Amino acid sequence: MEQGSQRKRGIKRTWIILAMILGVIMLSTYQVSSQVLLSSAKDRERALIAKGERLFFNETFNGNGRTCGTCHRAEANFGINPAFIATLPDDDPLFVAEFNPDLKFNFENPKLMREFGLILENVDGFNDLENKFVMRGVPHVLSLRTSVASPQGPRTGWSGDGSPDGTLRSFATGAVIQHFTKTLSRVRGVDFRLPTEAELDALEAFMLSLGRQQDLSLPLPLKGVVPKRGQEIFLDRNVGKCNLCHVNAGATASLGGANLGNINFNTGVEDLPDQPPDLTDEKVPPDDGFGRPGDGTFNIPPLVEAADTGPFFHNNAIRTIEGAVGFYDGDSFNNSPAGQLLSGIELDGTQIEAIAAFLRVLNALENIRASIELLEDSAERRFPDPGDAKELLERAVHETDDSIRVLTEAGLHPEAVSHLQAAKRLTQQAIDRLFFRHSLAAKAIAEQKQARELLVEPS
Ligand code: HEC
Ligand code: HEC
Repeated sequence: MEQGSQRKRGIKRTWIILAMILGVIMLSTYQVSSQVLLSSAKDRERALIAKGERLFFNETFNGNGRTCGTCHRAEANFGINPAFIATLPDDDPLFVAEFNPDLKFNFENPKLMREFGLILENVDGFNDLENKFVMRGVPHVLSLRTSVASPQGPRTGWSGDGSPDGTLRSFATGAVIQHFTKTLSRVRGVDFRLPTEAELDALEAFMLSLGRQQDLSLPLPLKGVVPKRGQEIFLDRNVGKCNLCHVNAGATASLGGANLGNINFNTGVEDLPDQPPDLTDEKVPPDDGFGRPGDGTFNIPPLVEAADTGPFFHNNAIRTIEGAVGFYDGDSFNNSPAGQLLSGIELDGTQIEAIAAFLRVLNALENIRASIELLEDSAERRFPDPGDAKELLERAVHETDDSIRVLTEAGLHPEAVSHLQAAKRLTQQAIDRLFFRHSLAAKAIAEQKQARELLVEPS
């Protein structure tokens, strides 16, 4: 009896132990598999973005040789400007109108492209190429996640009507028809092919992944007295009034307490006197903005990304950020429908520079944020598959160049600039060396953070 019950107890204990082991195995496989699920969703998103990036920079859609990256350059904040254009060889596809006889007339204006960075757009249709066109600057495609939605539907392009339904997807299709065609007949399947649904998914995912994913929350505890004063004027509803239309220096408006999203205004940019292209003999029809025929309004662009992405406004009319802020003190704005609505804006020279200094610091902070993110991402790409680590580091160098430039141009925060220069050197070394890449990137991140601490109190 004794022996029998002992054996039974022994068997029972073995069962309990076996059940516990089984439980542990089940629990850990559950954890592992849920992690696999999680990481595979992230991996799928990453793969889609990578596919979109390849399409953006390499896919010509059987057209004239251009890609999206021909105008939205990774080295120039996904836009383009005259200084960058001047560095390109004559056979760059940007210049197709100069070497492809079929595109010689009514496709681009090479003079205005080279001198002012202007691109020809038939936003009101292709039925009168000689007379119906506008000349516009190339906007960056950063922070689109924050700058497209509005209660009236998505708004893309300078006038918000760059595609029939305003979405990024149909904007990409429209860009192919406008910019990629081999001849002005624009016959699908002959002059170019249209992107497939899967390609549009990837292009959209890539573009939405660029830049800021959310708006700031102003005011920031800035350290420099001038940028800090600039921020106050920017936010003041009775002085700068900027925050009414660029809430948190983003691309949404809030008038009378109602959040209006990314909407359109006629701020009188078209009425500026002495616009650079008008000083040439070239034909530059007025740009009527949103709709066909247009109502003279344009879409609010985000300002965090502004300081390093000039020239400014839809027509590249103004070259410096100080000039762009000064525009709001002029007659063109004050007599415009938007200026009248707000009873005008009156700024003095010191105030214009202070607001611009604020926008420069915001831009440098965004460059620092982006650089740190790129450096961190590059560190994740480890041997034996470093993949695009080099490319991420190169983008971090461009971002750092921009933060140095926007601060230096206005003599702001020289000590922070020294740290940014150190960060740039370390990042360049990380590009050249495979083995110490990780530790060099970590040191570059530390320098970026030291620069940031000189611009803003830790929050
Ligand atoms: C020849 C130069 C050029 C090429 C090539 C080009 N774009 Fe653009 N892009 C522009 C210009 C100019 C605008 C402004 C258009 C407007 O205001 O409607 C613009 C605007 C945009 C915008 C709107 C951004 C915003 O803030 O609303 C997006 C998105 C965009 N392009 C994506 C693309 C994609 C995707 C491709 C490739 C399929 C492409 N572009 C090819 C010149 C170009
Ligand atoms: C009534 C709304 C409104 C107000 C107020 C306003 N803006 Fe704008 N802002 C716009 C619109 C719309 C555009 C695009 C105009 C265009 O391109 O024709 C713009 C464009 C800009 C640009 C050019 C950005 C670029 O990427 O080209 C800057 C810089 C700017 N605004 C700064 C300011 C500042 C600084 C203030 C305050 C002094 C201010 N804005 C007040 C609506 C407004």
